[in-house]
Amino acid sequence: MPAFTASAPGKVILFGEHAVVYGQPAIAVPLLSTRARATVIPDVQGSTGEIVIDAPQLPLTSPLLDLGQNHPLRAAVEQAAGEIDLSGLPACKIQINSDVPAASGLGSSAAVSTALIRSFSAFLGQRLTDQELSDKVFEVEKIQHGTPSGIDNTVVSFQRPIFFQIDTPIEFLSIPKPFRIIIADSGIQGNTRLAVQGVRDKWQREPEQYRKVFDEIGDLCRNARTQILGGNPDQLGALMDRNQALLEELGVSTPELESLIQAAREAGALGAKLSGGGLGGHVIALVNEGADQICQHLTDKGAVNAYITPVEERNPDS
Ligand code: MEV
Repeated sequence: MPAFTASAPGKVILFGEHAVVYGQPAIAVPLLSTRARATVIPDVQGSTGEIVIDAPQLPLTSPLLDLGQNHPLRAAVEQAAGEIDLSGLPACKIQINSDVPAASGLGSSAAVSTALIRSFSAFLGQRLTDQELSDKVFEVEKIQHGTPSGIDNTVVSFQRPIFFQIDTPIEFLSIPKPFRIIIADSGIQGNTRLAVQGVRDKWQREPEQYRKVFDEIGDLCRNARTQILGGNPDQLGALMDRNQALLEELGVSTPELESLIQAAREAGALGAKLSGGGLGGHVIALVNEGADQICQHLTDKGAVNAYITPVEERNPDS
């Protein structure tokens, strides 16, 4: 029997993280060259229900049924299995590898779940639509992150730039004029669950004040969408800077992230902000001229990794 392999990209949130949980729009793009992969290898000698997970980077090698009920890898297999009980599944080994750094704001959990659900569904002879896949990944995201908005599973499953808003049909974003961003790793692990909870606590204590912050983030997202669609990506720099200031008000930034953001700006970036849940993870910077020098400056100032990536509307099948 053949092996079944699937992969899924990481993601970058350009605008609107956190406020998106409260119904505001956000803009995210897939990181097509940074991917998680899952391979399901049928075990024809094994007994029904014998499924082994092999994820060397975690590191984790374990029978699936030994993982706790709420373990995300077990939950992802359950999502793929649907009505079938885990103990009735054909024997196999599932190998998982990922280039998407964990707890970094780049959507590693959604990427792993997406690759796993897609490959395991294929192993079971089912072909999921992108929407079905996204819905299943969302269920796993809820276990991991508490109250996610759904943006990560959507951008990762569809692998296209999106303008996302809860309870609104997904808008795939066309990008008539591609642009470049730098993605720089602070080297400090973020914690999306904690960050989302921290924002919720603040909002519950002072709903009026934080509602205004969310509203302003929503407005600047709509403005960013206009600039992207109008082919004026250079205008996004100032919007990124303002989004960062609002994320600082939400309490999800850190001195380390701010020092990298400052470094990007002083080296010539058009704007910069944290990306994703925050409390660590990555910063992004909009660049035009001198991108290599800005990358160098970021690593000189403590980024453990900084690289340039294009933001474009690219069909993953092309
Ligand atoms: C995490 O990638 C983005 C957050 O807005 C949480 C969410 O939308 O689920 C922080």
